[in-house]
Amino acid sequence: MRATVRSFLSVTAFLASSVLAVTVAPVSNDRGPTIHIIENALPTAPQTHEVVSIPNKNTLLISQFSNSVLVKAQVDDVGQITALTAFQISTPTSELHGLALSKHYPGKVWLTLQADNLLVLIDPMVHSLKSAPKVIKVIKVPKGKGPHYVGEYGDDLWVSLKDSSAVLRINHVNTTDYDHYQGVSHPIFVAQHPINKNFYSGEDDSNKIIKIEPTTKKATQIDIPASMGGTTPVGMISGPKGVWFALLGSPTEGTGTVGFIGENDEIVPFKLTSPLGQNAALLHLVFDLNADRNKSLWLLSSSIVNSKALDMIIKVTFNDDWTRIVGEEVSVLPTQQNQAHRIIQTAPDQLYATELAKSKLVSFRTAK
Ligand SMILES: *[C@@H]1O[C@H](CO)[C@@H](O)[C@H](O)[C@H]1NC(C)=O
Ligand SMILES: *[C@@H]1O[C@H](CO)[C@@H](O)[C@H](O)[C@H]1NC(C)=O
Repeated sequence: MRATVRSFLSVTAFLASSVLAVTVAPVSNDRGPTIHIIENALPTAPQTHEVVSIPNKNTLLISQFSNSVLVKAQVDDVGQITALTAFQISTPTSELHGLALSKHYPGKVWLTLQADNLLVLIDPMVHSLKSAPKVIKVIKVPKGKGPHYVGEYGDDLWVSLKDSSAVLRINHVNTTDYDHYQGVSHPIFVAQHPINKNFYSGEDDSNKIIKIEPTTKKATQIDIPASMGGTTPVGMISGPKGVWFALLGSPTEGTGTVGFIGENDEIVPFKLTSPLGQNAALLHLVFDLNADRNKSLWLLSSSIVNSKALDMIIKVTFNDDWTRIVGEEVSVLPTQQNQAHRIIQTAPDQLYATELAKSKLVSFRTAK
């Protein structure tokens, strides 16, 4: 009896498999790289601001504005901080803010002390994490106050004076050689146009951009066109075809808008359209290190003025001539309401961002 049942079942199984053929074949995998996010803990401070990377040294410098502390961090090849030290720069109320690598003084770094009204060149002493940075040069801001951004362009430093709403050009070799340009509230970043060579600074609370022609020393104001549908120009950098900037928006509404100022001051806007990108509160931006081949712009969305805005890193890909957005890849940062502040790229697959309110440094890495 048992034997009969078994042979009946195996005959049925044989019939089923011969009728329903299942084939197996390889398919291609179209996925891009996997994203690795590490939120590195920094010393606790009410406000963590800027970050720069010392080339080829696996060392990052990070400014903590609220207590005027400079963090020196060693990172490994996945962007994880393996050790760090922190140094008081001047006094706890000096307001260390801007950080910029110097080319004129190789290996040295410019700092701004916003409350002390000073520009400081340091040697970060990267050979040893324990060594305190050395002050090499101190320049007093000769007119206006509140140095925020600093950038070195040959013998000149260009500085936004946030507290007195002005832009300063000062020769760091001969500091009696300077120009002071009065603006409106508040110049944040300063960037040089790649084609017309003029300097531009976004004035966040005035919804304007100041344009400075260094050869004629003429300054003019450019309005953000109403057609851009947003306010608060902040992050501003030189890029393909012009000076690019992000619109942060208001305390209640993000804009999802970036744009660039062309050769003749025409403003060319781009609106993000992805579900999270379209209302992003865009604070800062950086072009891909290989932007001539990888047509990508990395954007940082921040909850800094709008607590409902998401803190995100958004990779925006353009077509070949930078006239159209063809892709948006949005990554929401694990810690929200972090008031994400600055983004930099240090290698094709490695970015870092600061979390102003959470004393963290994000390592954002893409890997196949
Ligand atoms: C420094 O700059 C001032 C102002 O432009 C100029 O008069 C002076 O000749 C410069 N000094 C030197 C040593 O170049
Ligand atoms: C383009 O960007 C990706 C990461 O988003 C990177 O892996 C790749 O190496 C980059 N290509 C070039 C040519 O830099």
